[in-house]
Amino acid sequence: MSDPHADAAVEIVDLRVSYGTQTAVDGLSLTVRAGTITALLGPNGAGKTTTIEVCEGFRRAGSGRVRVWGLDPQRDGPLLRSRVGVMLQDGGIYSGARAVPMLRHMSRFYAHPLDVADLAGRLGLDTVRATYRRMSGGEKQRLALACAIVGRPDLVFLDEPSAGMDPQTRLAAWALVEQLRTDGATVVLTTHLMDEAERLADDVAIMDRGRLVAHGTVGELCGSGESLVFRAEPGLDLAALRALLPAGSTADEVAPGRYLVAAGTAGLHAVSSWAASVGVEPRDLSTRRRTLEDVFLDLTGRELRT
Ligand SMILES: Nc1ncnc2c1ncn2[C@@H]1O[C@H](COP(=O)(O)OP(=O)(O)OP(=O)(O)O)[C@@H](O)[C@H]1O
Ligand SMILES: [Mg+2]
Repeated sequence: MSDPHADAAVEIVDLRVSYGTQTAVDGLSLTVRAGTITALLGPNGAGKTTTIEVCEGFRRAGSGRVRVWGLDPQRDGPLLRSRVGVMLQDGGIYSGARAVPMLRHMSRFYAHPLDVADLAGRLGLDTVRATYRRMSGGEKQRLALACAIVGRPDLVFLDEPSAGMDPQTRLAAWALVEQLRTDGATVVLTTHLMDEAERLADDVAIMDRGRLVAHGTVGELCGSGESLVFRAEPGLDLAALRALLPAGSTADEVAPGRYLVAAGTAGLHAVSSWAASVGVEPRDLSTRRRTLEDVFLDLTGRELRT
């Protein structure tokens, strides 16, 4: 009999984790498809790091079930270690380590490591001479990313991989992550960056306050149509505007004083006539594709950026 979850790299079912009285993860269920990049997106404190630490076997689940390649990350840690790469949010690298020697050292633990010189070059680590303790924030991030992937893992957890990286390094990091997927690996990363999630992720899981608030491809979450956004005084009655819009459109105040109209090209006309008739002056009126930020705003009423 075929296993319906055979293509799942990670399966999380009703995960709960608390720190004392504080609930960090509150009934999260999520499946990561093998061979894809999944981004966990959410504001500070959403529970992203806690969730992946449980998957990495570094933290115990309060309740619920977590399986990585069908194994229990707590019980089967030794079996998973050589297959799973980990980049922690706060480094976790020996403070006296230097970049290239550290990578060479690590690569020896694996049967089929990446080429160290090539990896170091792609991340600009070949010219970094400082010990980890004295590296800049971006250099530390680059080394942590390199350490996570040097063993050619078939699953890699990256906790805010591009935090603190300059734009050029970020592009190099993204290219490496995409290369991992091309080579068949599964990637789970956390991020606050919408463009990072939109560029890299096959699936996006949006978390807020320990819960999953949305999960799907960027296309599924954002839709294909254009949206209209504008600012105006908070609390406007939108009933008259909605009456002018085509069926299936929406008009909402997604945050105080911030309005979003999803109505395709008809939206602009409708908003102009409505605004003139009720004496509202829309500010910063623009059309754009719906973003993950809009999705988060719609679902939670708050901005994703904190
Ligand atoms: N060891 C701990 N003791 C107590 N509370 C903790 C501990 N670790 C995390 N928390 C709390 O659990 C919640 C979730 O934290 P977590 O680090 O998982 O969030 P996050 O989504 O990774 O946030 P960020 O985007 O800031 O990295 C937060 O409110 C945090 O303060
Ligand atoms: Mg975190």
